[in-house]
Amino acid sequence: MEKRQELYKGKAKTVFATDDPHRLIMHYRDDVSAFDGAKLAKLDLKGETNNKINAYVMGKLAATGVPSHFVGMLDERESLVKAMKMVPVECVVRNVCAGSMAKRYGIAEGTKLAEPIFEFFLKSDALHDPLCNDDHIRVLGWATLREIGEMKAITHRVNAVLKPLFAAAGIDLVDYKLEFGHPTDDPDGPLVLGDEFTPDGCRLWDAKTGEKLDKDRFRRDLGEVIEHYREVARRIGVPL
Ligand code: TMP
Ligand code: ASP
Repeated sequence: MEKRQELYKGKAKTVFATDDPHRLIMHYRDDVSAFDGAKLAKLDLKGETNNKINAYVMGKLAATGVPSHFVGMLDERESLVKAMKMVPVECVVRNVCAGSMAKRYGIAEGTKLAEPIFEFFLKSDALHDPLCNDDHIRVLGWATLREIGEMKAITHRVNAVLKPLFAAAGIDLVDYKLEFGHPTDDPDGPLVLGDEFTPDGCRLWDAKTGEKLDKDRFRRDLGEVIEHYREVARRIGVPL
């Protein structure tokens, strides 16, 4: 596999072409951002920590039949993935009320939810990722009814795998964000999971103490961000 030109630089990862048009390289940088890019920093070891956590989680998901773009880890900071045409929405599942949901409805952070709640957001930093519903997505052409169903079904299946995985490590999976797309070598097939699963895109609280182990440490200036990401990795069994 030959690494070719840079295709896209996101807020935390850079995507490179390869000699195979259906395969890309995701390079995890040490950059961290919050509030749609308004708050930026560099954190030592972040790139390799997230690359390793993502590889481990995608492997666990694949083992239970959840399809993703992940092909394999190439080195400490890079993974090979399938090239994808992404759906421009973000899928969030919440097990506990926190973050924007707590603010939106005036409900205390930490309030347990009787069932997981699913939310869609339009992926747009400029618009601050507004909440949207099935009708917005379907009528405005961001995804079809079939794709909406697939995104909901897979996002809930991920909860069924990851909630117990983190619970076994003494961690509550409070909420998380997933993104989906079609592999370019199977454009008419079912949606598969893209992007990443790392502490950048979820909330993880210590089950006993409630200590935050995720990107809220950066958003809220709690300090020792990567130390806590690595604590998550160590507890769930990611080789670092
Ligand atoms: P929220 O409470 O800010 O809506 O976020 C819910 C979860 O989704 C939280 O774990 C963070 C994650 N998320 C992202 O990773 N990126 C985003 O752009 C958004 C809106 C949420
Ligand atoms: N992922 C978004 C950003 O980096 C939002 C956030 O995490 O606060 O800017």
